[in-house]
Amino acid sequence: MKLNINNTDYTIDEKITNLLDAFIYIKEHINKSFSFSYGCKSGNCGSCSVRVNNIESLACTTNIKSLDEILPLKNLPIVKDLIVDNQNIKDKLKQSFAFLSTLNQDSITTQIDVDKIDIESSCILCNSCYSSCPVYEVNSNFIGPFALTRVYRYLNDTKELSSKSKLDAIQTNGVWDCTLCGACSIVCPQSIDIKNDILKLQNFSVQNGYSNPLFSSSSNNFNSGFDQFLSGGFNPNGF
Ligand code: SF4
Ligand code: SF4
Ligand code: FES
Repeated sequence: MKLNINNTDYTIDEKITNLLDAFIYIKEHINKSFSFSYGCKSGNCGSCSVRVNNIESLACTTNIKSLDEILPLKNLPIVKDLIVDNQNIKDKLKQSFAFLSTLNQDSITTQIDVDKIDIESSCILCNSCYSSCPVYEVNSNFIGPFALTRVYRYLNDTKELSSKSKLDAIQTNGVWDCTLCGACSIVCPQSIDIKNDILKLQNFSVQNGYSNPLFSSSSNNFNSGFDQFLSGGFNPNGF
C-alpha cells in the first residue's frame, strides 16, 4: 500500500490498516527521522491530528487506503513533518478568558447544569477545528473555533462569576468574524457543534447590548444593558 505524506511516497506493509500504525511503521522501517505526535492511541488525547485527503482527522482512529494523502494541520507553524506548534491557540485561550476565571463559591451545580456543558467539556484539544477554519486566511488574529466554544462552555457554567470579561473579549476578532460556515463542526472528533455555539454567542452578545461591528454605527449601544442583565441574575441558558 502507498501513502503520500508531505509529498513523499511511502510503501507500507499491506497488513497495516490504521494511519498511526503506518506512521510508526515508517519511523521504524523506512525513515527514522520522520516526526509526528501521538499519545493515547485511542482517540482521547488529541495529539495525533493531521489532514487526510485534506480533512482533519485523528491518525489513531483513521483507517487508511492506498494513495491517501497526509499533510500536517493548517494555520499553525510546522515544527517538523507532521508536528505543529499550537502556542498560538494557547495564547488565544488566554486572550478570550476561555477558562474558569472567578469561582462562585455559593453555586450549586446540578446534573442538569453539567449536562448543558457536557459536550463542550469533552474537547480533546486536537486543533482540528483551527486547521479547518477559512477565516485564518484573511485574519490571523481570529480567536477561532476552539477558544470560542470554550468561552461558550464557561459562560454556561454556573460556577463562573466573570461572564462580562469573557463576552467583552470575544467582540473583536471573535464571534463577529466567524462566517458560520460549519467546517469546524464537521471535523470535530468529539461532535461538538462549534458553529452553533458561536451562533449562540452572537445571539447572547446582542441580548446583552453588544452589536455586530459590521452593522453598527460607531458606538451605538455597545455593552449597554449588561449591568442590568447581571443584576437580574445570570441565566446561562437565556439564548
Ligand atoms: S463556523 Fe466559524 S469558526 Fe467554524 S470554521 Fe467556519 S468560520 Fe471558522
Ligand atoms: S473543539 Fe473539537 S475539533 Fe476543536 S480542538 Fe476541541 S475536540 Fe478538537
Ligand atoms: S494518539 Fe491520542 S487521540 Fe490519537
